[in-house]
Amino acid sequence: MKQSGNHSSAETTMDTNKLPHRIQVVFRHADRVKPPVTLAEKVKTTAPSHLAAAFDELEKLIGLQDAKKMMYEIHALIRINKEREKHNLKLEKQVYHMVFKGNPGTGKTTVARLFGKIFKEMGILSKGHMIEVERADLVGEFIGHTAQKTRELIKKALGGILFIDEAYSLARGGEKDFGKEAIDCLTKALEDHGNEFICILAGYNDEMESFLELNPGLPSRFPIQLQFDDYTVDELMKIADLMAHGKEYQLSPGAREKLRNHLVRLRNDLFMMNFSNARYVRNAIEKAIRLQAVRLLSIGDLSREELITLQADDFVWPQS
Ligand SMILES: Nc1ncnc2c1ncn2[C@@H]1O[C@H](COP(=O)(O)OP(=O)(O)OP(=O)(O)O)[C@@H](O)[C@H]1O
Ligand SMILES: [Mg+2]
Repeated sequence: MKQSGNHSSAETTMDTNKLPHRIQVVFRHADRVKPPVTLAEKVKTTAPSHLAAAFDELEKLIGLQDAKKMMYEIHALIRINKEREKHNLKLEKQVYHMVFKGNPGTGKTTVARLFGKIFKEMGILSKGHMIEVERADLVGEFIGHTAQKTRELIKKALGGILFIDEAYSLARGGEKDFGKEAIDCLTKALEDHGNEFICILAGYNDEMESFLELNPGLPSRFPIQLQFDDYTVDELMKIADLMAHGKEYQLSPGAREKLRNHLVRLRNDLFMMNFSNARYVRNAIEKAIRLQAVRLLSIGDLSREELITLQADDFVWPQS
């Protein structure tokens, strides 16, 4: 007998070698059988290993709580649907087309690519790849060209994700513009093949809002809307550590302080309109890696510590 849960459990076993003809009772303490606490743990205990690994990748990204929560909800729904199926109950079918709103470098493309992987492991998409397009890929130069281009890209995206970056630029030219034809073609494809691929419209907040308002047919076809907030300085520092670690580098305490002060300055700079969040940090780390290499070039016999450590002097910005 095996029990798990919140209560102490007793296990009854027969150990014929040690105590013949006796029943041994082993008490297990509740704290050894810890129930999952976080949503992420709940997912991991209910997901097959490939899916759990894909969720792990999502979990490792800093912040992005809404995106993570939404994926866990979908996982739960699919699991429970399987149980309902066993009881011949109606299955809840959902539409997974999405809108991602957020400033540059807030993780939209990264998350979309990972969602493809997760949806594949969940069995919702057959391939899970991502086709990333923008206006120029969809809109043609003569009548009929746009429909042809759009249809071809949708065909390529079948089984995966069609990610349309700066989607609002499709509505840029007004009624006569071929962009409108691309939107119409996409809307039709969502009706015809809506279950065979997932379409994600991405772009900056305000532009996305007015794009959806101007195209009343769209919001109901894209029921999932995710907001990607700007990262806080703490989150950006965690992202810096994660990126450096991934490349087998580390930041010295001095480098960390210098980068943090710089990010605080940028965050408080009212004229800094297009701060590119995690991409800014990625560029800063990559530049520091180059400057570290130059610094180390003239030193013979480098230690492992020297090779992996980025110092404050390796972080240089035009204004500093
Ligand atoms: N939460 C995060 N944790 C770790 N790395 C991140 C995170 N968010 C973004 N990054 C990294 O920052 C970089 C920029 O992210 P990404 O390209 O996904 O942003 P984006 O929102 O698509 O930007 P844009 O709107 O400019 O296309 C990538 O290298 C990505 O790996
Ligand atoms: Mg992007």
